[in-house]
Amino acid sequence: MRSHANGKNVDGLIDYFDSHVKIILKRALVSSCGFENHWFLITMACFWFLGPNGGAVQLNNKMQELFVTGGAGFIGSAFVRTLLDETDWHITNFDALTYAGNLDNLKDIDSSRHHFVHGNITDAGAVLAALPEGTEAIVNFAAESHVDRSITSAAEFLQTNILGTQVLLDAARARGVKRFIQVSTDEVMGSLPEDENAYFTEQSAFAPNSPYAASKAAAEHLVRAAHHTFGLDTVITRCGNNYGPRQFPEKFLPLAISNALNEDPIPVYGDGRNVRDWIYVDDHCRAIMLAMEKGKSGAVYNVGARNERRNIDVVGSLLDALGKPRSLINFVKDRPGHDRRYAMDPRLIESELGWRPRETWETGLKKTIEWYQQNTRWIERTRSGAYQDYYRAQYGKEVSAT
Ligand code: NAD
Ligand code: DAU
Repeated sequence: MRSHANGKNVDGLIDYFDSHVKIILKRALVSSCGFENHWFLITMACFWFLGPNGGAVQLNNKMQELFVTGGAGFIGSAFVRTLLDETDWHITNFDALTYAGNLDNLKDIDSSRHHFVHGNITDAGAVLAALPEGTEAIVNFAAESHVDRSITSAAEFLQTNILGTQVLLDAARARGVKRFIQVSTDEVMGSLPEDENAYFTEQSAFAPNSPYAASKAAAEHLVRAAHHTFGLDTVITRCGNNYGPRQFPEKFLPLAISNALNEDPIPVYGDGRNVRDWIYVDDHCRAIMLAMEKGKSGAVYNVGARNERRNIDVVGSLLDALGKPRSLINFVKDRPGHDRRYAMDPRLIESELGWRPRETWETGLKKTIEWYQQNTRWIERTRSGAYQDYYRAQYGKEVSAT
């Protein structure tokens, strides 16, 4: 096992040298200042450890066997990549490969530490059969995740997001899994007023507005109940809108990028002034890793990069970055019950776990756009077949398959 600080990746090396430089500087300060300056030293030490770079993930190596569900989807596959890259842990990746699950998302990963199992989380027998002996933690990403689809039909959302979560909780208890991580969403807390300085905190009341959000809220209640009633060690993370490579192009940002690349019109719901709180997917994954390792049992952590943007401004930024005209923007009928604004207060995860995002909106958007530009074959595959039917039903028009 090796620690994150000794990792083979560049970030790991930077952290490694960063921590050694800190030790040398601290020793120099101690020898030059004497004990009368201990307050100065304490302040400096706090600054180093809690400052923006001091929030880098410092994983220990206690956990070795993880059971990840939904790891062939957008965030789950990013989590699998990050974890394999930054630790020596072994992952069993359990995924039903719905329309959103894609084995291409797991290409080129270290297969010696990753075992894929095709299965459905609503199937208790399949979950128990796949769950390795001695699993340290279950991280539950598996879900139906698209709000528009939940408005068209809620049944799958209730099956997977609610019943599936209960099956996993039961399996965790039956097998003595040490910790259960539920990947949840800011949408369980409903919508914030547009013009007020209001933010979602961990204490905000539940007010889910779509069938998707209601199903994720129900799942959170079940996780809470498993902790309260049976003493299961659980942690819930709630995050805002993720963006990055490999996001299925039903979601706004990849839909807008792939349409723009094909010069297809970009559908913007309503007046385009709805606000979302955007976070680069790897930053979300590192927050989950930290919560899994160091989060308090029974806790909820809000994850957000303080990056609120109106939809119309998001499209504007990416059209500018791609050198495409604003005339591609096409205002369409609003989403029913469309939440106006999401905005996270991430102070708890920052102060308690030392988490900080590494990407800014500018660097994250650049990486995302470049990935889609370089992976046209991936877009082509995801936009063929059933996607065309979905698009026609949702938007009442055709879209290029390539
Ligand atoms: P996604 O739709 O891209 O991926 C979902 C994955 O779950 C797919 O691989 C799919 O095959 C799998 N899956 C679906 N039903 C399953 C079942 N019954 N059994 C096993 N596997 C099943 O979703 P995503 O955007 O990667 O989101 C992952 C999780 O993060 C979800 O729980 C979602 O609610 C949560 N979340 C997403 C965001 C976001 O911005 N996308 C933000 C906050 C939280
Ligand atoms: O906030 C976290 C949530 O973010 C996650 O829990 C969900 O799984 C994820 O899908 C996402 O939900 P949203 O509904 O916010 O994401 P979506 O990409 O569907 O839409 C983002 C915004 O863009 C939203 O205000 C609706 C708008 N939109 C979306 C689509 C698909 C458009 O204007 N046009 C579109 O075609």
